Formats: sequence, C-alpha cells, structure tokens
Amino acid sequence: MKTPAPGRACGIMLVLLSLATLQTLRAQKNDIDIYSLTVDSRVSSRFAHTVVTSRVVNKASTLQEVTFQMELPKKAFITNFSMNIDGVTYPGNIKEKAAAQEQYSAAVERGESAGLVKATGRKTERFQVSVSVAPAAKITFELVYEELLVRHLGAYELLLKVQPQQLVKHLQMDIYIFEPQGISFLETESTFMTNELAEALTTSQNKTKAHVRFKPMPSQQQKSPEQQQDTVLDGNFIVRYDVDRTLSGGSIQIENGYFVHYFAPEHLATIPKNVIFVIDKSGSMSGRKIQQTREALIKILGDLGPRDQFNLISFSGEATPWKPQLVAASAENMNEAKSYATAIQAQGGTNINDAILMAVQLLERANREELLPAGSVTLIILLTDGDPTVGETNPSKIQKNVQEAIDGQHSLFCLGFGFDVSYAFLEKLALDNGGLARRIYEDSDSALQLQDFYQEVANPLMTSVAFEYPSNTVEAVTQDAFRLFFKGSELVVAGKLRDQSPDVFSAKVRGQLHMENITFVTESRVAEQEEAFWSPRYIFHSFMERLWAYLTIQQLLEQIVSTLDAEKQALEARALNLSLSYSFVTPLTSMVITKPEGQEQSQVAEKPVENENRHRNVHSGHTLFRYHSVGGKASRVSGGSSADPVFSKRRGWRGQGPPGPLNPPHLPYPPHRTPWRPTPPDVMSRLSATSFLDEHDMDLRIKETTTASPHPAPIQPPSVILLLPGQSVDRLCVDLKRSQGPTNLLSDPGQGIEVTGHYETEKAHFSWIEVTFKKPQLQVRASPEHVVVTRNRRSSAYKWKKTLYSVMPGLKMTMDKAGLLLLSSPDRVTIGLLSWDGPGAGLRLLLRDTDRFSSHVSGTLGQFYQDVLWEPLAAAGDSKRTLRVQGHDHSATRELKLDYQEGPPGTEISCWSVEL
Ligand SMILES: *[C@@H]1O[C@H](CO)[C@@H](O)[C@H](O)[C@H]1NC(C)=O
Ligand SMILES: *[C@@H]1O[C@H](CO)[C@@H](O)[C@H](O)[C@H]1NC(C)=O
Ligand SMILES: *[C@@H]1O[C@H](CO)[C@@H](O)[C@H](O)[C@H]1NC(C)=O
Ligand SMILES: *[C@@H]1O[C@H](CO)[C@@H](O)[C@H](O)[C@H]1NC(C)=O
Repeated sequence: MKTPAPGRACGIMLVLLSLATLQTLRAQKNDIDIYSLTVDSRVSSRFAHTVVTSRVVNKASTLQEVTFQMELPKKAFITNFSMNIDGVTYPGNIKEKAAAQEQYSAAVERGESAGLVKATGRKTERFQVSVSVAPAAKITFELVYEELLVRHLGAYELLLKVQPQQLVKHLQMDIYIFEPQGISFLETESTFMTNELAEALTTSQNKTKAHVRFKPMPSQQQKSPEQQQDTVLDGNFIVRYDVDRTLSGGSIQIENGYFVHYFAPEHLATIPKNVIFVIDKSGSMSGRKIQQTREALIKILGDLGPRDQFNLISFSGEATPWKPQLVAASAENMNEAKSYATAIQAQGGTNINDAILMAVQLLERANREELLPAGSVTLIILLTDGDPTVGETNPSKIQKNVQEAIDGQHSLFCLGFGFDVSYAFLEKLALDNGGLARRIYEDSDSALQLQDFYQEVANPLMTSVAFEYPSNTVEAVTQDAFRLFFKGSELVVAGKLRDQSPDVFSAKVRGQLHMENITFVTESRVAEQEEAFWSPRYIFHSFMERLWAYLTIQQLLEQIVSTLDAEKQALEARALNLSLSYSFVTPLTSMVITKPEGQEQSQVAEKPVENENRHRNVHSGHTLFRYHSVGGKASRVSGGSSADPVFSKRRGWRGQGPPGPLNPPHLPYPPHRTPWRPTPPDVMSRLSATSFLDEHDMDLRIKETTTASPHPAPIQPPSVILLLPGQSVDRLCVDLKRSQGPTNLLSDPGQGIEVTGHYETEKAHFSWIEVTFKKPQLQVRASPEHVVVTRNRRSSAYKWKKTLYSVMPGLKMTMDKAGLLLLSSPDRVTIGLLSWDGPGAGLRLLLRDTDRFSSHVSGTLGQFYQDVLWEPLAAAGDSKRTLRVQGHDHSATRELKLDYQEGPPGTEISCWSVEL
C-alpha cells in the first residue's frame, strides 16, 4: 500500500481545524451581540454607493475577538472602512500598494494582510476584519463601497449579500434608486425570503425613483420555531431594473461639473455576423465539461440568425475545422453542425495557437474571396479549459502571433472554463483583439453560462461607434470609441465639463449599421440636468465625479493589460493617482486598517484580482475555505507542476486527481444539514446535481448511492390532479397513459399562459415541464435537475428546494424548501411545479385558482376547464360515470389516489379518475 502523500495528511488536518473553529464561532455568538445592522444603497444614474453599518457589543466578561464580515460585488471598489470603539474612531487609510506593503511588510510577509479581502463566489468577494475588544465595549463598523452597474442583457443588477449570522434587533436595508430617464421595470429577487418575511419588504416606485426597504423584526428573522436563535437571513438580495430610452442618441446627465452619456439605442436591426467557434477538446475537457460544451453549442447553433455565417474548429493537439469554409446558418447546416457538435470527444493536448490562427485564416480567406457579406461583423469565440501544451506554448508568443494575424480585423472573445486556465493569458488575448474574456465556472449550470455569454454577443447592432463632444466644452473624457455595440448592453462615456461650458451641451454619436452609416445627435440643458439631481435622499454629493473616476480607473486597468511596458507605467501612474484622490481600493492601492493600541497594528486590505485566483476553489464552504489561506499572495502555479504541497492539496480538494481526503467517508455532514436518510434513487439524481451560484458544494459529496428499502406498494399519485371549481365534481385525477413526446398541456391566450410537458408513462412522472408567460415575457423550464428561468434572453438556473422569492411586475415566483415552485399573480391561474419526493417521485404539475381560466383555454388538461358534461349528473355512491369533453366521451372511475398537492407525504383521496 502506498503511503499517503503529504498533501493528503495536510487536508485531514484542515478539516479538523475548521470544525473546531465552527464551534468556537458558535460559542462566540452569544457573547457578541449585533444589535444593529443597516445597509444603505443609493443608486444614482447606475452609480451605486453602499454603506454597511454594523453595531455590536461585547456582552462577555472577557476580552473578545469581534469579526466584521461582508460580501460585496467584485466590480465594486471599497472606498472606506472604519471602526469606532467606545467613541474612538479608527479610520482606514488608502495608500499606494507598494507604500502600504513596505510600511507593513512584516505583516504582509506573515500573510496576515491577504485575508482581509478574498474572492468568494462568482460575483462576490468577502471583506473581513477582526478586532479584540474589552467587556461591554461597543463597536461600530462602517464599510463603504461603490460601483457602476453595468447593463447586461437588458438589465442593471444590484446585488446585496445578507448574512448577519445571528438575530439582529434592528436590521434594515434601504435601496434608493434614481434614474432621470425613468425606470422601465424593477424586480427583486432573494434566496432567503419567505412569504412571512416578504411582509417586511416594501417597494415604492414612481417614474424616476424607487425605494426598496427590507426591515424584518427579530421574530421574522427566526429560522423556525425550533431554531429561534438562528437566522433565516443568509443569501442574496438582488434588485434588477432597466430604464426608459426615448432618445436614440442616448441620455446625457450632468451633475456638479461632470457629465455621463449613456448610449443604448433600441430598435436597431441586428447586423449579420460571421462567427467561428473554437472549441477545446483536450483531455482535460472530458466528462462533464465537454458534455456541457456540446449541450451549449447545440443550443447556440440553434440561435444563429438566418443571415449569419459560421464554422466550428475543435482542437486538442491539433486543430480541425468542421467545414473548409464558413457556411450559411441554414437549417440544414445548423442541423449538420449540431450532429458534429454532439460527436465531439475530448482527448489530447491543447494547441491554442494553431486553433486561433486557423480561425483567422478561414476568415481571411473568406474575406479575400468576398464571401463575407458587406457590413457584417466577424467574431471568433474561443473556449478553453487549460494552458497551451502543444505547438506554440509560450503565452506571450501566442498573444503576439494572434494579434499580428487578427490585425484589428476581427474580435476575439475568450472563455476560460474552470480554474486550470490562465485567465490573465486569455484576458490579454481578448483585450488585445477588441473582445473580452469571461470565466465559465465549473458547475451544473456551465452550459447556461456559455449560452448566456453567447446571448450577449449574438446581436451586434452597431460597429465603429464614436462619441463626439465640442472640444472646447469637455476634458478628461473616458473611452469614446468602441468597436462594437451589442443589443442589451450599453456604452458609457463620462467626462468633466470645462468651466465656461455652454447652456446647451450637445453630442454626436457616429457609427455603422448594417448597410449605412448613422449619426445621432443629443442635446442636454445643463441647468435642467443639474436641477434634476437636487434630490438629496437619492443622491450623494458629487456622485457624477466619482462615477467618472471609477469608470476611468476601470478602463485604465483594462488598457494596462494590453499595453507595452513603457506606456504601462504612465497608465498605472494615472490610475493610481485617481485611486488615491478618490479613495478607491483598486489593484493599485491598499487600505491600511488601524486598530487600537496594543493590537497587531498592521492589517492591509487589498483587492483580489481575477487572474490571481488560479487553482482556487470558489465553491468551497465558507468556514472551510478560510483556513485554506496560505502565504501572502495567491500562489500562481503553472498547469503541470504539483510539487507545491499546497497546490496538490487544492487539486485534491477540487475533486481532481486522486480522491482528496475531504471526500466521503471522511467528510462530516455540514452542520446545517438534516441527518442522512435513505432517499429514493430519483431524488438521488437531484441531490447529486451540483450547486449553483455561491452555494456550498457540500451537496456534491452526498451522492453515495443507497438502495431505497422496499415498501409495500403505496398508493400512487395520478399524473395530474385538476381542481374543477363550479363543476359537479370538484376535482379530477388525470392519468396520462398514452402520452408520447412533448404535449400541449394547457394553452390559455386569455391568460397569456402556455404549459407544455413530456410525461414519461413508464416512469410515471414528467421529464420536463415548460411554462411560458406572455406578460411579462418569461419562460420557466423545469426538469428533475433544476429550474431554468429565461427572461429577456437571460437564463438563470435555480436548484430545487433552495428558497427563492422573486417579484417581477405582474408575476411572483417563489420556491420553498419542500421543492414547490409557484408562479402566481393576482388575476391569473397559479401554476405550481413540484419536485415531489413521495411515492412515484418526480416532477409534478399543480394548478391553483383555476376559476381564473378564460373560456379560450385548451390543451390536454386545459380542455377540462371548457364545457364538461358529467353523466349521470349526480352520482353519489356510484363508481363509474361518463365525462363528455369536446365531443369525446371519457369514462371516469372513482379511485384511491395520493394527493401530492400539499407536499410529501401526501394524503389519500378518493378521486374521479380518467385515463388519457
Ligand atoms: C472614512 O470614514 C471615516 C469615519 O467615518 C471618516 O472620518 C473619513 O473621513 C472617511 N474617509 C473618506 C476618505 O471618506
Ligand atoms: C416618487 O417615489 C419616491 C419613492 O417611493 C418618493 O419618495 C417620492 O416622493 C415620489 N415622488 C413623487 C413626485 O411622487
Ligand atoms: C461609413 O463610414 C466609413 C468611415 O467613415 C466609410 O469607410 C464607409 O464607406 C461608410 N459606409 C457607408 C455605407 O456609407
Ligand atoms: C494627482 O495628480 C494631480 C495632477 O498631476 C496632482 O495635483 C495630485 O496631487 C495627484 N494626487 C495624488 C493623490 O497623487
């Protein structure tokens, strides 16, 4: 037998350590009382300024360590943090990174600084500071951060994390939004909200302003009557909205000497595109990754427009094109490409260089042969999960080769799948060539992430967009020329007005549409604009100037990536100057946290950088992850080497290579889980589906199969139970016995609802159900694995039994812990989708408020809400009747069935049943 590798032993120790710590955290809870926690977010014209204030008291009779912890969006910059301990303020100081590090080099060497801010999820990073305080001491923590909300598939999203970890006497969240253009829709979504808790949520809104308040009493925060001390608040709170766009030249807004110009014209025709998908099929992609890639490709190919041209290149050690040239996206070609995609198998090395160069050659040749339609757009989309290992492997040589080949003629987008890929390499590759890079997280929704990315670039509306302002009126303007503008996004330019700016500020935006050039002209009255922002409750002073500084820094940081050394320094100096002047914690600055005398005086908070996150497990549970921190900097280990014990330990953790020590049976159940019970195999498949966004991936490991113990054949639920208010029979059990393939279950144009589904007669449950709403436009597709909600081309996956509470204009969507998803609105039939665990486990459909069906309802199930005739009319005691629907007779019998509608274990009912 082999002796365990050092990494393994190390891993086991880590588990024990973290468990011990969990308990101390528990014990501490009662001693440290958070008596107030407020989150105040002001969003003025997309620029969000968030202040988190936490007040705590040490109720113990001894010195205690108090920790302040907050998750904030990755895109945000922290601008201030301070602690006030018994009346004395300890402010954070933002300094140049090098200076801060020098000053506190000792701490940095000990690795103490790196822990303050850490990337934790796909969209968030965590800021955490601890301080020791005397008995009875009162401490106020205040964290301030800012970000510009970016329009993504037609919406802005403000994400707030709520995780107090204990009941809080005074807990309040206020979100004030002011959009001078007018708010076109606003919706909220939360992962912890329940119907009871939703009473603490209020939203008020008019044309330009919205106020969302969440203020739950301690009694509302309780997890359950049994767990009165535990808080239910733990998760995301999201506000999503968009603004009205009347002027196609965009909206210019002015405040305190600065302006911002938002440009997102609606109603432009999509420009045809020539797109080449370059797909990594190296060995490391094998298994789920390649499967998800195939799945996404098939969907994406189906979404190509009729005027688009495309090709596929798959590569491992060498690159192979699907077709020798680009082909039109005809139905025939798309089907052929889908079959090709279905057959892609993963094995071999990674030759990124040759694959991209081949794509460029295909485009160049098509261009020479004049096969690219006039005015079309060319895109190369690269998907890879690893570093180059075959052919040219030197990253900078590849970057040089690619840039020379593309020569500004095409846009290259790079998708890095997972964490074994050098994101910095891909980011530079994309930014050098007019595109952008995106990370695809390895998870059960990876295919959706790929589709989502494609949706962003699927509809180019304009090319070569240039903003022009009269030169004597503005200065310090941010990027004003953009290669591409895509549907659903927004171009933003900000700048400073010169002192003698005119009363009317005018701007031009030029660009190219498919076959013509276009110029938009916009004018804005300075005084009127300034006045619009005199609304102190919604605005913080000089926000426009800060917006400008934020945008300038973000753009400089991107430019630095694709600039040569000499220029780089000048850009860095400028970004640093702005970061310091406006007090932003950016990758160039650090915040020095001061603490009371006598305590370790030296903590430095630094912004984590995406490309330093290599080999990090984003899905790890919070507490476990904390103890994985090693050394000051995230270690940057190259692909093949695993000599570093830390590195191999992490690989083990990620479930790659030899099974790591954290896999069962060593892994104890996470504390929040209920004890293990044998689960029927069908539920198993659901449990083993991996976690989504910001989930703990503990669930992954609880998939050891257990055979369900045989029960005496229980009463089975029917395929569907229909409530028939107003008919002589109040409920009908329908068994779908002859159903084959997708079926139109319900269609009600009056209600704007359609439900289709595939009922598997053998398994006696639905393999999928799809609900489509007309207004708001929304599609919900449920499968035993998860629920995918698509709205405005944006798809999100939700796991069954993870609470969700989403309020959209005209529709509410909730999911509870029992796995019931309800889609409801005040005047519509409620559609329920249930992940049922009882006998005959599987996906089920249920309907409530069925009296709201219109007279136009139809479909396999819908027909029973039309004129239905029961014969004989009254049949007390009888066990057989005839049901006449749409001229067809069905014989109905009284049978004992299981009613699943109220959730497991279900109740036995005697039900009139028909077979269809
Ligand atoms: C940071 O917050 C402290 C305490 O509220 C305050 O004194 C200080 O001026 C703030 N710093 C900045 C740059 O706003
Ligand atoms: C608009 O709504 C906001 C937030 O609900 C409110 O404070 C404000 O008074 C309203 N303004 C008008 C003119 O109704
Ligand atoms: C649009 O403008 C560009 C650059 O100014 C020019 O090269 C191109 O020919 C123009 N296209 C049309 C259709 O006028
Ligand atoms: C930033 O640059 C300006 C102009 O060069 C200078 O006046 C200012 O002192 C600089 N600020 C910082 C914080 O370095």
